[in-house]
Amino acid sequence: MFELTRRGLLRGAAAVGAALSPLSLIKAEAAEPPQKHPTMRKVKFEGRSRIRIGLIGTGGRGRSLLGDFLAVPEVDVIAICDINPDALKGAVSQITKAGKPAPATYGATEREFEKLNRRDDIDLVVIATPWDWHVPMAIDAMKSGKHAAVEVPAAVTLKQCWELVDTSEATRKHCVILENCCYGYNEMMVLNMCQQGVFGELTHGEAAYIHDLRGLLFATYSEGLWRRKPHAMRNGNLYPTHGLGPVAQYMGVHSGDRFESIVSVSSAEKSLTAYGKKNLKAGDPRLNEKYVCGDMNTSIIKTAKGRTIMLQHDVVTPRPYSRHNMIAGTEGTFADYPARIYLDSMGNDEWQDLTTFKERYEHPLWKKNGDYARKYSGHGGMDFLMCARLIECMRDGLAPDMDVYDAAAWSAPTPLSEASVAKGGSAQKFPDFTRGNWK
Ligand SMILES: NC(=O)c1ccc[n+]([C@@H]2O[C@H](COP(=O)([O-])OP(=O)(O)OC[C@H]3O[C@@H](n4cnc5c(N)ncnc54)[C@H](O)[C@@H]3O)[C@@H](O)[C@H]2O)c1
Repeated sequence: MFELTRRGLLRGAAAVGAALSPLSLIKAEAAEPPQKHPTMRKVKFEGRSRIRIGLIGTGGRGRSLLGDFLAVPEVDVIAICDINPDALKGAVSQITKAGKPAPATYGATEREFEKLNRRDDIDLVVIATPWDWHVPMAIDAMKSGKHAAVEVPAAVTLKQCWELVDTSEATRKHCVILENCCYGYNEMMVLNMCQQGVFGELTHGEAAYIHDLRGLLFATYSEGLWRRKPHAMRNGNLYPTHGLGPVAQYMGVHSGDRFESIVSVSSAEKSLTAYGKKNLKAGDPRLNEKYVCGDMNTSIIKTAKGRTIMLQHDVVTPRPYSRHNMIAGTEGTFADYPARIYLDSMGNDEWQDLTTFKERYEHPLWKKNGDYARKYSGHGGMDFLMCARLIECMRDGLAPDMDVYDAAAWSAPTPLSEASVAKGGSAQKFPDFTRGNWK
């Protein structure tokens, strides 16, 4: 069981150099620090024929990403780091089974990732560790002259969001958020349609992470060891990016629009407590845990262009999976789960299956790599598409699809929803992480 006292929380947070935000700090954190270095918006990678990767975190997600990166021909995995020797061993064998040389290994202490970051033969550090570690590891990687690619959410406080932005700008290294859902088949096709104006002028989107994770949250391995703790500490949207990333891209957020404000409310907390009571044996110390995160958190984000996004988070209610993934404009609407489209021009009141539009709008990345991705990669193939595309950008010297400003803005709903919920749903301002460059 994790330590649930405030002293325990502060001690844990201090260990990774970043405390969770007390409410009183949220306002101060939101203040825009002065810009000291040029923007990283649209800054291109330097371009190189081979991409040398260091991977920190070889648990469930790290091993899955490892498989996807190993399948990209231009990639060499040079070094890996994990404090769990079994996880490290599993990753070494995954690499050698793929016919590649055994990597250097690190993980004797919680800060041995610094040794991996200091190596001079790595271009990209991929970070797939628990949430509180993302920012200290990414900052250290960028300061050591490496690009960083961080799992989601990239950061858990506004202060951390700014630290990522400022470090990326100061070091001229990218901090890419590994938001795989932006590369989903439906998401990429709908992005293509939005960019071609099929839905007209966009006005409203809906996004969510609705995934019954109760079993995983109480597991005695992997995320069960750390992911229940935020449910005891924070009441808001703990995992905003899977739903929000794609909708932000449909709306061209940071390319002509930006998130301006958010209001948020949470339901009562019931399901995690009920699940524990039903499934844990008498005397299990986890029965003493008290959760504060409401089962369903609902936020509404307003953008500079006057658009709205409804954003939800619920990982504890028994119900089927959904990210909503919905976008509406003056000419029509797309809604997912199941994927369907209605266009004004269709002239009837019926939804049409998204597949009807495949011939015209399937995204070129899926046309190129879809067959391999579907067969060998996780989450329906989106994971391979994301990894292959990041390597393509690094190889060809392109700007990344998802930069540090996206990482900050897509992660910021966690502290901002928490602040709004605590103040009865009052509006919270989004920092402009681009400092005006979204225009
Ligand atoms: N994009 C997705 O679809 C997706 C899916 C699952 C998880 N994730 C994200 O990936 C991240 C990891 O999740 P996971 O499911 O792999 O969790 P996990 O618990 O299975 O793995 C985390 C690993 O990090 C290691 N670790 C912890 N502290 C470390 C340190 N200081 N140095 C080195 N290693 C350390 C642990 O030993 C563990 O092996 C999380 O941010 C999670 O939100 C994303």
